[in-house]
Amino acid sequence: MALAQLDKTLQQEILALQREGRAKPPERVITGYLPPEGERGPRYTLQGEKKAFLRMNSNSYLSLSNHPQLIAAADTATHRCGVGPGAVRFIDGTFIYHQELEQRVAQFVDKPAAKIFNSAYTANCGLALTISSKTTHWIGDQLNHNSIIRAMRIAGVPSANKGIYGHNDMDELRRCLDAVGPEIDRVVVIFDGIFSMRGDYAPIDTILSITGEYSGKFRDGVITVVDDSHGIGAYGAAGRGTVEYSGGSPDIIIGTFGKAFGVNGGFIAASTTLIEMVRQKADTYIYTNPLSVADCAAATKALDICDSQEGQALLQNLKQRTQQFRRGLEQSGIESIAGPHPVVPVMVRDTAKTRALVNHLYANGILVVGLTFPVVPRGDESMRFQINAAHTPADIDYVLEVLAKGTVTIKK
Ligand SMILES: Cc1ncc(COP(=O)(O)O)c(C=O)c1O
Repeated sequence: MALAQLDKTLQQEILALQREGRAKPPERVITGYLPPEGERGPRYTLQGEKKAFLRMNSNSYLSLSNHPQLIAAADTATHRCGVGPGAVRFIDGTFIYHQELEQRVAQFVDKPAAKIFNSAYTANCGLALTISSKTTHWIGDQLNHNSIIRAMRIAGVPSANKGIYGHNDMDELRRCLDAVGPEIDRVVVIFDGIFSMRGDYAPIDTILSITGEYSGKFRDGVITVVDDSHGIGAYGAAGRGTVEYSGGSPDIIIGTFGKAFGVNGGFIAASTTLIEMVRQKADTYIYTNPLSVADCAAATKALDICDSQEGQALLQNLKQRTQQFRRGLEQSGIESIAGPHPVVPVMVRDTAKTRALVNHLYANGILVVGLTFPVVPRGDESMRFQINAAHTPADIDYVLEVLAKGTVTIKK
């Protein structure tokens, strides 16, 4: 009964979201994966659709989700240890596959230790719960991912203990650091490595040099944290992401296995002591079942592949296809945001035009994300294309061709 009353109010709220243009559209359902064939890369079938689709909206940058070795690793682990852990980590829910993945990812990002989480989202929440205190001050980029912003709220960080600098604005970062009061013992500067809607990156080397100047002012120093969920595995000559691209390694690295590595799960990598504290204090680590052993074994295999010759070839193709796409946009005079990352935004700068183009691409078997007002400010409307290592030259040419035939002009 009570739920019927609540539902009425919730229905009004959903209608309001729809009126404001903020409601999420119905979810499309993928029914199958068609492996690459000849000149074309993988395609996907969708419920209710006859044609197959080219995904230009997947975070799976190395395209490993359907890799036979990942599937075999998940299968072997499942046969050995089962489909679920049966308990949280500290109540005998820790299996050899969890430990192996933690050691492997720590080595991959060149940190002494790591803890794995169900997602990067819960890793960010776990980090804030671990290191925040009444005398901790947090400073972050204005465009940080929702999981970082939510993590602050979950950890109960008061607004007086927070500073936000304009996107990649290093003068404002300095001003935020200058504004921290003498009562503060610990400052944490946290930022995305790759900003996922724009494909641009944090200037880590500059951030480290600025924060280094202030570290002596506070008892626990100025701790730097990068969430490189879209960077790790996706670029840099060895797939080390923004750290490799920009130079300098922040104190703490957060990442995901659910994007470039094609699996699921997140991690925090840092010093051995900090990771032990995560194990003691991060509620999103302690009070929830861990990843399945299948996820862990597949993620470990993905890291191994990334470090192999095959991984080198995938990264090379990813880079070349990204360049091909960016060059094609440039030649057609279509506006984008410059950068080396496989997230390539196309700036349309109009809501109706963005919707029309997303529909035009869909009608031609291409999936992309459109960002329209009021989700982004008027004038910033765009489409986000994501290249992955399984895209072929013919796939990219096809997307450019369809874009060029769009009935809507999106030139610079
Ligand atoms: C910076 C950043 N952090 C965290 C996440 C969430 O990753 P996960 O799916 O592993 O929770 C994303 C992905 O959208 C992201 O861009």
